[in-house]
Amino acid sequence: MGHDQPLPFATPDIGQPEIDAVVEVLKSRWLTTGEQCRLFEQEFAAAVGARHAVALNSCTAALHLSLEALGVAEGDLVFMSPYTFAATAEVVGYLGATPVFVDIDPVTLNIDAARLRTAVATELQRGRGRPRAVMPVHIAGVPCAMNEIWDIAREHDLAVVEDAAHAFPTTYRGRLIGRVPDGVAGAVCFSFYATKTITTGEGGMLTTEDEALADRARSMSLHGLSRQAWTRYSTGGGWQYDIVAAGYKYNLTDVAAVMGRVQLGRAEKMRARRASIAAAYTDAFREIEGVECPTVPAGVDSAWHLYPLRVDQSRAAVSRGALIEGLTARGIGTSVHFIPLHLHSYYRERYGHQPADFPNALAEFERVVSLPIYSAMSDQDVERVVDAVYAVNTRTGTGTGNGGRVPG
Ligand SMILES: Cc1ncc(COP(=O)(O)O)c(C=O)c1O
Repeated sequence: MGHDQPLPFATPDIGQPEIDAVVEVLKSRWLTTGEQCRLFEQEFAAAVGARHAVALNSCTAALHLSLEALGVAEGDLVFMSPYTFAATAEVVGYLGATPVFVDIDPVTLNIDAARLRTAVATELQRGRGRPRAVMPVHIAGVPCAMNEIWDIAREHDLAVVEDAAHAFPTTYRGRLIGRVPDGVAGAVCFSFYATKTITTGEGGMLTTEDEALADRARSMSLHGLSRQAWTRYSTGGGWQYDIVAAGYKYNLTDVAAVMGRVQLGRAEKMRARRASIAAAYTDAFREIEGVECPTVPAGVDSAWHLYPLRVDQSRAAVSRGALIEGLTARGIGTSVHFIPLHLHSYYRERYGHQPADFPNALAEFERVVSLPIYSAMSDQDVERVVDAVYAVNTRTGTGTGNGGRVPG
């Protein structure tokens, strides 16, 4: 087993088909938003069963444009868990609205629906702003309790903007994440960042059932130009355009979109490979004292974007920190998802949060470590991670050979 080369935490699974497709687009001389974006939107919408899809240059842009199109503005309150990346909350701030944090379910790391219900009731009583939207984040690719969240949204007329940066393809009660149900206003936002389950380098997609929302997001992604203006550089496109709002520059390029189309076609195969890696990890690690493997609730399926292992510091042979150091010493990349937002200086200072305000988020953050899980990993890579986790936990410095169980 070549242990000399470091094993990165994440590597995109890019093959010859992606390379050939990008080269073809370069040869076509049409580099910016065009036919490839249109086809990527159509194919992605069909894949998740959504009526509309808008290709954008990031998930952050999709989150921002969704809230903007829904009319979220100053004085509005937007509920989310603090257990997420910077993007989810910062876009609320862009619009002058306030992110209201709600603690997580410690098992799934997702927003706790019962706590969400209480938080909405509390804010209605408190009257410091108008409860306007909720942003469920499907952490690691495990879907949030959407039925409960959609019920709360219907009861209180909240929009639902799902942060599905980790959640393609994720199945929730027999359907892929990506379709907003009847009676709920909102959108679903995906990321194609370099480490994500399908990638375009940088990129994102917004899906929605709401035509007006899709139209507004599309216009605002390109300077707030009028609908007719998008085709102004294509053959037959007119020179006329009108600026209907002060928009942004969030459009995806065709170079990126064509890569996304190839990745989309491979998404299920790549997911199956990550699921088999997760199964191999769980099979191997469940015997290690004080180490807890991620679980997926009944009735749903994970995209397995991440494999967040939890270390029970009272029972485990090594602390979370020592596990990370031990794996790093063996050349294995790890990460921590996430440092909850309320612990960061901006959110502490701006909103007066204390670390203990969200005890589940704090406790899980302190004991979590994400292991490498991506389809470009070989069986040997998986064995190497298994052996290293064992070695660090048993302090033997050598593996146990448990990696032999890794399925192909
Ligand atoms: C939960 C979550 N939301 C949003 C994003 C932002 O995605 P993008 O980089 O495509 O803007 C990320 C990216 O890491 C993420 O992890």
